[in-house]
Parts: sequence; structure tokens; C-alpha cells
Amino acid sequence: MRILVLGGGWFLGPAVVTDALARGWEVTTFNRGRSGNPVAGAETVHGDRERPEDLARLAAHGPWDAVVDTSASALSPRDVLASARALEPAAGRYVYVSTVAVYEGWPNEALRTDSPVWEAEADAGPDPAQLPDGASGVNPNYGRRKAGTERAVVDTFGLARTSLLRPGVILGPGEYVGRLPWWLRRAEQGGRILAPGDPSRSIQPVDVRDVAAFVLDQAPRVGRQVHNLAAPVGETMGSLLQACLDVTNSSGELVWVEDEVLLRQGLRQWTELPLWWSHPGVSAIDGSSAFAAGFRSRPLAETVADTWAWLSRGNIPVPHRRWARHGIDPDKERGILESVG
Ligand SMILES: NC(=O)c1ccc[n+]([C@@H]2O[C@H](COP(=O)([O-])OP(=O)(O)OC[C@H]3O[C@@H](n4cnc5c(N)ncnc54)[C@H](OP(=O)(O)O)[C@@H]3O)[C@@H](O)[C@H]2O)c1
Repeated sequence: MRILVLGGGWFLGPAVVTDALARGWEVTTFNRGRSGNPVAGAETVHGDRERPEDLARLAAHGPWDAVVDTSASALSPRDVLASARALEPAAGRYVYVSTVAVYEGWPNEALRTDSPVWEAEADAGPDPAQLPDGASGVNPNYGRRKAGTERAVVDTFGLARTSLLRPGVILGPGEYVGRLPWWLRRAEQGGRILAPGDPSRSIQPVDVRDVAAFVLDQAPRVGRQVHNLAAPVGETMGSLLQACLDVTNSSGELVWVEDEVLLRQGLRQWTELPLWWSHPGVSAIDGSSAFAAGFRSRPLAETVADTWAWLSRGNIPVPHRRWARHGIDPDKERGILESVG
């Protein structure tokens, strides 16, 4: 197999490249050369997806059996459309890493692959009229933009030559956003640790290496493939934080504080206490079609242990615009803990 990985610089991209090389596949990566380090053994082409001349130059490096797109979290539908059009003559299949945020019901409703997706134009530019936050306070514009990018791929390659993969949240070694790394560092510090909501609340994060393996399994597939990627129900916020205490050998004490108290204090969900969502659809993602198609999801404790091992080797999440916004201020945490006794 010969594949093109759009991205490849950090987190999911390198995991895909590493796994593909281990399978004996030939790999080309395409990015601007700004983020992360290239994986040895892959051909690297540098360029910008927002520049048509770079895409034309890239296409000349083909053909490939499949394009694996891991680099469109910030791109507009128009840019993804341009990439798909430039690469379509040179690639058999397009495996697109999307997100569960494309569903209109996210994060409030249970989600299946046939749940309604945001209406979005395949050629929408970077600044479409913005939708207001939903009643739940969640901004729908990222999901709507990703829905437009999905459409751009399907309009160009056709559903039969496209895999649309919609993960919830991805964790694991190399996580640059700093969600699990923040909890691991907080556990390591010990003391009384503000733990959000209900310890028995289900969570469904997937491991970056499991996502990478499934992404690659899609490359030789034929026909329509649309899958949600979410861990089976069974993992909880409690098991996640306990695993953080265990692997860091921490004597910290988890102090569970109800959602309502945290919301009254104005805490930002998802980022100020990473991975904390109180919305009912967050842990109700139906990933059964992916499991039927061969997706495997390792136990969360393994993801936690391997991420700690990665941090302990001196690795740090790479500087990223989203990193700074993760984690609660220590004084604010202490104040809330004192207020609950
Ligand atoms: N992380 C999660 O929890 C999560 C959850 C659900 C879905 N996803 C999806 O998973 C995919 C991977 O996400 P991510 O956040 O790890 O990656 P990302 O930020 O979308 O992409 C990072 C990679 O893309 C390259 N890149 C970015 N802009 C580029 C451009 N204009 N031209 C060429 N290359 C460009 C970067 O390298 P350079 O900077 O060197 O160009 C880097 O290698 C995304 O599609 C995201 O929506 C992620």
C-alpha cells in the first residue's frame, strides 16, 4: 500500500505514519513543517493546504492507494475541497478524520451515525456567518465547519471512495492539547484534587494508536464507511482519575464536587477541568459500526499509563494555541475546595 498522510507532524499524524511504516507501507506526509518532527522512513513534502500551487506540486508525488487526512481541524470547507479536488486524480480513497461535533445533537443527545449532521456548504470559506452558542452553552461552529469539510470530501470522491471517521475525544502519548497530561501532572502534585461531577459518569475517549490503526484499516476498504469512534461504555471519570493517581504513585485525594456547584462558580466545561462535560450526549456515542468493522479500543488505564510514561521520558505537549486554556488556576481550585468543606 502507498498512502499520503495530510498532517503527520504531531499526535494522530505520527501515530498513523508509525503504524503504516510498521505494516511495510510506503508513506508520504504533507504539512508546512512547523509542528512536531517528521517520522523517519516517510517521504516528506512541505507545503500549505491553503495554497493551490502547493497542492498541485503534492499531487505530482502520487499516485496513492489512499489519502489519510489528519490535518483539517482548523481548515475551512473550501480548503478541504481544494485539497480533495487536487488529489482525487492521484488517489483511490479518501480517509477523513472528522469529529462527533458534526452532529447537530452533540453534546446533548445520544448519537448514531445516522443522526442529523449540521447543514454546511462544501465550499464555505473561513468566515461564514457564525451561529450563536446553543442553549447548552456549546459553540456549534466547529462542528458545522467540520460538517462542511466532510461534504467537500464526499462531493469530490463520492461516498463509495470515502471513509468518514468521527472520533469523540482522542487521548494517548503525544497528546499536544494537554487534557490527560494536565490531569496526570495534577495527580502527581497530590493534595486535595477537585474532581468534577459524578465519579460514575461514563466517558468514551479513544487511544490515538487505536484510532491510527483503524484509520489505516480503512485505506484498502471499498464502499461507504461512516463510523463514530468512541470507547465502549464502561469507563468513567472516576476510573480515569483513579488511574492518574495510580500511575503517578500519588497520595492525592479526589474531592468530587457536583456539576451544579462547579457551574455556579463559572467553571468552563471541557477545558478548565479537562474532559469534564455535564451534557448528557457526551457519553452516549454509538460506536458499534466501527467495532463491527474491526475497531479495537484498549482499556483506558493503558492509555493513562502510556501517556504518563511518555511524559516521564521528558516529553511535553507541544506549544499550541489550545494548550494554554487547559487547567484550573490553583487558587481557584483551592477556593472551591474550601467552599465545599
Ligand atoms: N484531538 C482530538 O481529541 C480530536 C477529536 C476529534 C477529532 N479530531 C480530528 O483529528 C484530526 C487531527 O487533529 P489534530 O488536532 O491532531 O491535528 P490538526 O491540528 O488538524 O493538524 C495538525 C497537522 O496538520 C498540519 N497542518 C495544519 N495546517 C496545515 C496547512 N494549512 N497545510 C498543511 N498542513 C497543515 C500540521 O503541520 P504544520 O503545522 O507543520 O503544517 C500538523 O502536522 C483533525 O481532523 C481533528 O478535527 C481530533
